Amino acid sequence: MTIAFIDLAAQQRRIRSRLDAAIAKVLDHGGYVMGPEVRQFEAELAAFGQAPLSLSCANGTDAIALPLMAWGVGEGDAVFCPSFTFTATPEVVPWVGATPVFVDVLPDTFNLDPVKLEAAIAGVQAEGKLTPAVVIAVDLFGQPADYPALRAICDRHGLKLISDSAQGFGCTLGGHHPIHWADVTTTSFFPAKPLGCYGDGGAVLCKDQALWDLMDSFRVHGKAVAQDLNGRVFEHESKYLNARIGMNSRLDSIQAAILIEKLAIFPEEITMRQAVADRYADGLKGSVLSTPAVIAGGQSVWAQYVIEHENRDGLAAHLKTQGVPTAVYYPVPMHVQEPYAHFPRGAGGLAVTEALAEKVLALPMHPYMDEATQDQIIDAVKGFNG
Ligand SMILES: Cc1ncc(COP(=O)(O)O)c(C=O)c1O
Repeated sequence: MTIAFIDLAAQQRRIRSRLDAAIAKVLDHGGYVMGPEVRQFEAELAAFGQAPLSLSCANGTDAIALPLMAWGVGEGDAVFCPSFTFTATPEVVPWVGATPVFVDVLPDTFNLDPVKLEAAIAGVQAEGKLTPAVVIAVDLFGQPADYPALRAICDRHGLKLISDSAQGFGCTLGGHHPIHWADVTTTSFFPAKPLGCYGDGGAVLCKDQALWDLMDSFRVHGKAVAQDLNGRVFEHESKYLNARIGMNSRLDSIQAAILIEKLAIFPEEITMRQAVADRYADGLKGSVLSTPAVIAGGQSVWAQYVIEHENRDGLAAHLKTQGVPTAVYYPVPMHVQEPYAHFPRGAGGLAVTEALAEKVLALPMHPYMDEATQDQIIDAVKGFNG
């Protein structure tokens, strides 16, 4: 039997009848976009993520763009983010006219290095061309960034903090979700994410109603919201009075209906993911590769299980011959990608990022992996003598 890298079918088999019923309900009421399931899901997502409010949108990329737009981040602003991440993290920064500044990550957790962040901010201040405005921390591969340290830095310099939790939504540090420290948390419901739907989707968790309202305006073509109307009454649909230039970033009701069912089993799935990760760590102990380290007090949601090996490509080729699929996240760091290469690199350099890009390899990971399959993968890894 072929080994799945991520087995979405196993989860679907478990909740298929509930999904069918939830989708049928949407077909019956016909409110396909931003229908009642969207409101219900937003409320349930906020409760799960320990946030006062949540706003759904079309994908996890827009979810990062929406707060930048609402805060008015733009030309002349520096947005600090890791280079060792998926494109979407820095991609939205030039969308609003601001400049991404790439910062290195820690060698053990692969998340933003607070010391290098301080150095990058100091470098930008010394140069005097850009104004430090925002930090985007990424919960890479599922584990929380060092939020207490990052928050302290942001407070010292008056910066906003976004937690890009597209891979890490559901992760905690000392029992707190990232929103405890971040101004907003963003996530993606791309199917392969730990909490995914059956298409595209995303959300922003936030703490204040005025910000929520502004992001609501931006996600629906800049429609007028309460703060635009100043008590005035607009007799027609709000999207026909435009207060700003926005976008179309709504969530479909069918996706929200699916997400309601998946969120119900998500806490249990995080525990199941942890069991798989623990078993990998036990089984791979003593082999030449390096298994993942999680920040002290952190609970990862294990979007990926990423090992490091000096002969990464040799190991990947060997595993392929053994029927074990693998993936490399990320082979080319953002700061050397052609469209991003001209953006500033934080003082302190990106040596860790560049070394990781050569060594990382993701093994199959999902909550429903059975022990026999996992043993097969562990044996295949251990059988490599390259
Ligand atoms: C770290 C990170 N940020 C943002 C995104 C963007 O999410 P989406 O694909 O839903 O736009 C992803 C998705 O892969 C991601 O991994």
